[in-house]
This record gives sequence, C-alpha cells and structure tokens, in this order.
Amino acid sequence: MILIGKTRQLIPVIFLIIITSCSSSKKNNLNVSIIPKPSKMILEDKLFKCSQFIYKKKSEINNRLNLLDSSIQHYYRSEKSFFSSGANPNLFIEIKKDSLVAKNYYHLKVESESITLTGDSKGVFYGLQSLRQLIYLNNKTIDENIKIPCVEITDSNFFSHRGMLLDCCRHFFSVKTIKKYIDLLAFYKMNVLHWHLTEDQGWRVEIDQYPKLNSIGSYRLDSTGKYGGYYSKKDIREIINYAEERYIEVIPEIELPGHSSAAIASYPYLSCKQDPIDVTTSWGVFKDIYCAGNDSVFIFLENVLNEIVELFPSDRIHIGGDEAPKIRWQECPRCQKRMNENNLTNESELQSYFIERIAKILKIKNKKTIGWDEILESEIEGDVTIQSWRGISGGVQAVKEGKKAIMSPTSHCYFDYNINSIDLEKVYNFKLLDDNLNSQEKKLVIGGECNLWSEKIPNEEKLDQQAFPRLLAMSEVLWSSGNKNYLQFQERVEHHYNILNQLNVKYGIEAIPVDIEVKADVKSVYAKVSSKIKNLKFFYHLNDTLIEEIKQNDSIHITKNEVLSVQAFKNNIRYGNEAIQKIAVHKGLSGSINYRYPYHLTYQASGKKSLVDGKLGGLDFKDGNWQGFYGTNLDVSITLDTISQVNNVSLNFYQYINSWIVFPKKIKLLTSNDLIKWNEVGIINDFDEITKRGKLIKSASFKNLNLNSKHLRLVAENFKRLPDWHEAAGSNSWLFTDEIMIE
Ligand code: ACM
Ligand code: ZN
Repeated sequence: MILIGKTRQLIPVIFLIIITSCSSSKKNNLNVSIIPKPSKMILEDKLFKCSQFIYKKKSEINNRLNLLDSSIQHYYRSEKSFFSSGANPNLFIEIKKDSLVAKNYYHLKVESESITLTGDSKGVFYGLQSLRQLIYLNNKTIDENIKIPCVEITDSNFFSHRGMLLDCCRHFFSVKTIKKYIDLLAFYKMNVLHWHLTEDQGWRVEIDQYPKLNSIGSYRLDSTGKYGGYYSKKDIREIINYAEERYIEVIPEIELPGHSSAAIASYPYLSCKQDPIDVTTSWGVFKDIYCAGNDSVFIFLENVLNEIVELFPSDRIHIGGDEAPKIRWQECPRCQKRMNENNLTNESELQSYFIERIAKILKIKNKKTIGWDEILESEIEGDVTIQSWRGISGGVQAVKEGKKAIMSPTSHCYFDYNINSIDLEKVYNFKLLDDNLNSQEKKLVIGGECNLWSEKIPNEEKLDQQAFPRLLAMSEVLWSSGNKNYLQFQERVEHHYNILNQLNVKYGIEAIPVDIEVKADVKSVYAKVSSKIKNLKFFYHLNDTLIEEIKQNDSIHITKNEVLSVQAFKNNIRYGNEAIQKIAVHKGLSGSINYRYPYHLTYQASGKKSLVDGKLGGLDFKDGNWQGFYGTNLDVSITLDTISQVNNVSLNFYQYINSWIVFPKKIKLLTSNDLIKWNEVGIINDFDEITKRGKLIKSASFKNLNLNSKHLRLVAENFKRLPDWHEAAGSNSWLFTDEIMIE
C-alpha cells in the first residue's frame, strides 16, 4: 500500500515471539501442517522418537541424507549430525525404479519405532521434504529426542511444472539469495526456477563471445550511480548444480525481440536505427528492439544461444517474445525488405518470423522453446510451450492448438503486485484448468509459475516480503489435487511462520489487514474496521485525536474532514502498513447518484454509492476508492435530499499513463430542477496534463457557485486519448474519480 503523508509510530512495538502450540492432535501435540498438502495422510496419536536417524548405507541415498542433515543442522543452528549409517537402522529408504511408480510418488510411513520411505527418485526427495517439515513442525529445538508424529502419507504431484520466475535484471540478486530461493522452492516441492537474465535494464549472463554485453550491458547509470552486475559462467554452474541436487530445473530466459535495450546498448548494430543508446534506467516498454531485417542480429543471437545451450542442461529455453513495440520495424528499410521478401503483411507476422527463426535454431540444438503468450501467432515446429500471462486465455488457446501451456496470469501469479490486488486467498483460489478444456487439453497445461518481476524489489528482504507467504499458496495449487479449503490452509500457514523465521525469510502479510467500510448519513460517516485475518488487534486515530484501540467490526463516527489511520498488530508486532483513509464530510453524502454510463466492474470501488460515500482515494489506484470508466465519459447526476445551498463542487481525477489512466480534458457542471433540462453552471477546459508521467491526483473545482439546487450533474470527457508514445495510443483510456464533494 502506498502511504500518504507521514507514517506515525502508533505505540511502542514490543517484540514478543509467541510460539503457537500445535493443535492437530491434543494428546501428543502432533503437528502435520505440511505444505503443500499431501494427497492422503493418516495420522495416529503416537510419536516416533529418536536421537539420531540411522540408515543403511546406499550410494543413492547418502547424498540426499547428507543434504537433509545439513539443512536440519542449519535450521537448528546445531553442529550435531542427525543422520548416520549403522547396523540397527530406524530409517528405511527405498528408491524404486522410476518406471515402476508414478512420477514424483512417495509413500512415507512413520511408526513408533521406524520410518519407511519409498518412491521414485524424485518422489523420495519430496518425501524427505515432508519429513523435514514434520521435524520442523514438531521440534522447537532438537537437543534431545527428535519427535515426529506417526503418520502415513501417500503423495504425488498434480502439475509437473511448478515454477517461480525470478527477474535478476531490474534488480540484481546475489548467488547466495538465489540459492536460498532454490532451497525454499525445493522445501515447498516446487521444481522450476525460471531465471530472467536479459532485459532493457541489464544483461546478467556472461557471454564470452560478446564481452561488451557484460562490460556495458550489465550496468546502468541511475541516480545512485553505477548499478548492476552479472553472473559469471562459474556462478551459473554453481547455481545449476545446487538446483540439480534439489530437483530444480533452471530455465534461462533470453528475451527477444523486445526488452533488449541492454544488448543494443552494448552492440548498437543490433537495433534498426543502430544509434547508440544507454542501458535503460526506467521501467516500462521501450521502442528499440532487435532488428528483424538484419542477418547479423540472428548470427549474434545464435552465438549467444550457443553459449546458453552449453551452459544450461535444461532442454527448454525461454525466449520471451512479449511486449515488443513495432514502431522501429515499421520505419526500418531492412525490416520492411524482410517483410516483402517473405510475403509478410504486417509487423506482427514479422515478429512470428523472428520467433520461428530462433525456435528453429534451438531445435537444431535439441532445445525446446518456451515463450510468453505473444508467440502464439508463430508457427513453431515441434514442442513449444506458451506461458500465458495476459490471463489464462493464451494458455487455453495454446492447448487447443496442441501446444503446452504454463499458466502465470497477472491476476493471480504476479507476486510483484501488491497484496491488495493479489492476496493469499486469491493465489490459493488460482484455477489453472479452464472448464472448457477436455481431458486431453487439460494434460497439456503442464503447470504454472509465480512471477517475481523486480522493478520494485531492490533487495532480498523485499523479495521475501513479496514472495511469502503467497508462494506457499502457489506451491499447494500446483502440487496438491483434491478439494481446497482456504481456512484449513490458512491454519497450516500459521504454523509455517515459525519455520520461515528460522529459514531467515522476511515474509510479508497475507492480505491488507484492515478494511475500512464507510457508511454515510447526512452530515457524518461511520467507518467500520474489519479484517479477514485472524488474531489481530487494531489501533486508530484521527487528525487530532489520541490513539485508541478499536475492536473488529466496531465503527468510528466522523463528523468533519479527517484522515483516519488504523494500524493492525499481531502478537504485539505491527502487521502491515497503517491503513490511511481520507474522509470528506460534505453535503452530497446521502445523495442518490445516477450514472449515464456505468463504471467498469474491475474498478467499481464501493459501487453505486462510491462517489458520495465520503472516501477519498490515495496514490494507489487499486486502493478501492477509485472508480474507473473505460472508454466512456463520466456522466453522473446527484440528487440531494433537499434543495440546498451549493457553493463549491469539486472532484479528484487520477492519472497514470503507464496503466492507461488519464485526466479528462474537459469537465462540466450542470444543474436542473426536473432532471430533464440541464443548465451548465461551470466548465473547465484544458484540465488534462497528458504529457505528465507518474501517478498523479488532481482536483477539479467549481467555486463560488451560489446555487440553490437539488440536482447536480458532472460530465468529464474521456476520449481515446493516450499519448502518441504509448504502445496503445489510439485505443480506449480509463478515467478515474473517487468522490464528488458538494459544499
Ligand atoms: C510480462 O509480464 N511482460 C510477461
Ligand atoms: Zn530493422
């Protein structure tokens, strides 16, 4: 959430760690809150206890147990070894031939005297992760006996591709951070690290043949100085080995033809204009992309891919394909010549040509292509996977065409988005399989990914905050089959916070902790405080009041313009940011409102009353206060309770051109006695500032009106008016407003 104004320290924060007791089985305090939830689990009210796990030495399991041992030592900050081979084993592990059992299958049986684990090679690894979770969940410390509840688990994965995208280009993450994430992914039974390595803002992989990609392309000069870095081939091999030991496939993404400014900055001949450019320092989509008409570009990319293919053992390479503006290609004689020679009728077809040519190069190298859903138009021979990000429809189309699909729609999977648009429950309810798919098509949906684009993630701490706890929900969505139950999941998540603390994960919050629901009457508003998160306390204050506690579902009575601030606490520690709600008390509050054109359902704020409910929006246009109109004018009339003296009418508009939201150009105020004939009483021409970037709020005011009126109408014009440079110039724009204030 974006804060407006000063954040206040509400009460001294007392750091108090409460270890939640495990409640699954009262007698022995057993805790089986495994995430992702296993397919089948039978619990007995008994415990396995031992001071050490003893196993029979077998080459195929030694490495795995050493790995598990060091994880547990690290977790408990202990020097002691918890596993050893010996004559009287209590831990029996059998790896069955992969062909004999289902993939990723394991059977884990914990009895009072012994633990037995069987499965295929991956399955046994996942069984050990479940065992590891059971140890962490049931042993605060591990100085004496290790306790594990007696449980029988039969489990295997639902989707085969369970990934996380990490963008190391917008911000650079250390090898250590990446290893931490590989560990976390494995712990939660995820199996793909989609490693976004090339971008406008930085080229992050060492390429021997083109050293300027690293000396120039890996660094940008921003306000803080030189920023960047890259992974040497040695770093990359180290990461791949680390990942392989943990059954994580590392898929590199080498973006093309767009998002390529860093490469072009290094070697300007790669672009259409061939002019020098800088490695980009701002976020967005940029015009200079690889030239599709220059064979030298394809030679460059083939040489780069040669080195990538040699480095990465995965049989899949992601080539991007998203967000490639065509403006340079339209103006480039080489690109136009290419189109003529190949009978391509437009630049979209030229993009398909580009992608197909690269996919062919990969195919010769025995690599399969993955690309964002923009590459659907390309005719790629053989195995191709579409990663659906603009909703799941691209993935649905892909599987209907016999291609594979990875689902990572912005709606549920963009963990760089704030918690107010994608909260834990939303991720948990992510449905990858469209009802209209038949069983064959469903099989082609191989899985999903959560995407951590890093424009607003400058460091590991922020990465943790964005990724967790949402990654737990993603892991369960992708691994577990069967019925979902969010409340039960939430209870299991509660037990994982202690584990995440111990794993040094600075997790964020599950959802916006405070909901402020406002009910307006004639001269005041009642603001009710509630939350969908359990076990919180709330403290609030208004502009000039002292801090007071307020109980869930109680209301605060507000009689003048105020800023209401509410802070939630969990276990006496601040939970999330302060909720700050600006309230305007005005004469329109209990008026009735009529819309000539409806607001859009995606941005409905609090619905029909929203523009007269007293709630003002902040700089986050998704804060639930802004009402959006897409491609239509704002044209609303307000009927007051009685004929009233009206001197001022004002309303705010929002602009953020990156998200296609623009100020209106012209705004009119009208009045009427009968709702039929309307008289214009004010007009504002040239209100807009369409050239201004950034998130802006601007107030439109009609002052000194001196009206006696019951009916008022506001009209704000909203044309197709995105600026020329905008990728969608000429298409519809949004108009956003929050409140019509009448005084
Ligand atoms: C994307 O988010 N542009 C794939
Ligand atoms: Zn060109």
